[in-house]
Amino acid sequence: MKPWIWRDRWALVTGASSGLGRVFAERLAERGCHLVLTARRVERLDQLASQLRDSCGVQVVVHPADLSQEGEPARLWSLATEEGRQIHLLINNAGLGARGLFHEVEIQRHLEILRVNCGALTGLAHLALPPMRARGEGGIINLASIAAFQPVPTLATYAAAKAYVLSLSEALWIENHNAGVRVLALCPGRTPTEFQRVAGTGSTEGAFGLRSPEQVVDAGLSAFEQGASSVVPGLENRAATWVTRIMPRSALTRAMKTVVRKFWK
Ligand SMILES: NC(=O)c1ccc[n+]([C@@H]2O[C@H](COP(=O)([O-])OP(=O)(O)OC[C@H]3O[C@@H](n4cnc5c(N)ncnc54)[C@H](OP(=O)(O)O)[C@@H]3O)[C@@H](O)[C@H]2O)c1
Repeated sequence: MKPWIWRDRWALVTGASSGLGRVFAERLAERGCHLVLTARRVERLDQLASQLRDSCGVQVVVHPADLSQEGEPARLWSLATEEGRQIHLLINNAGLGARGLFHEVEIQRHLEILRVNCGALTGLAHLALPPMRARGEGGIINLASIAAFQPVPTLATYAAAKAYVLSLSEALWIENHNAGVRVLALCPGRTPTEFQRVAGTGSTEGAFGLRSPEQVVDAGLSAFEQGASSVVPGLENRAATWVTRIMPRSALTRAMKTVVRKFWK
């Protein structure tokens, strides 16, 4: 695989209004990458765009979208690629979770998680891959999670959605590797962002394996450059995923119930 070039390439970053998406945008702009930023909160995107234009001298385009809505990934892709822009890197980062017993969380919330975390990610990857393959270069970073490695009671839909993202990404890595296109599943452990407020998962203070958003994004970009299919930032988090490979699944799921109840305040 050819060495990856950042400068003067275009990247589409979903969920750029906060947390990991915002840091992805900053890190890519520092590398000279032009950006298409999306999320629902347009004022935040506009503010970030003007900051990155000033500080890094890159081009930044903002297209707000609600990725839980039917047809939005396709509309976003056509706006992102207008005026002949070629998207070399897709960061499928937008996502949300909801903590609670499955039957007590509103069905609309479960469906929103599936539409954003899985549906929009799949739709954008499906649109991005053909032109990347035709050019013989390009890449996708999909945000999975360490929740992808085992079921998580009280975050059941979120963990199942992230298992889908990890599985899809690893399959797409194999399908596209020989065509010169990279696909990475980035699997963070707990990271302090707005995710905890939105999902109701409580403070991350003192959490096992805690990493900053900057550490997570740097680990993701470095693994992407090396052409990896997945990465789990942080030794403790990697160790936790190794345990999932040897423990019987039923015992693992029971253990996760205790972990979430005791340690996720
Ligand atoms: N933080 C963690 O502990 C952690 C761990 C593992 C994996 N992850 C994953 O990392 C990714 C980024 O999360 P984060 O931690 O940075 O959380 P965050 O700070 O809450 O950011 C989530 C981003 O997704 C966007 N988003 C949510 N719903 C959307 C929708 N319907 N349409 C368009 N954009 C939407 C939000 O923008 P708007 O609200 O402005 O639309 C926001 O920019 C997610 O996929 C998450 O599952 C996070």
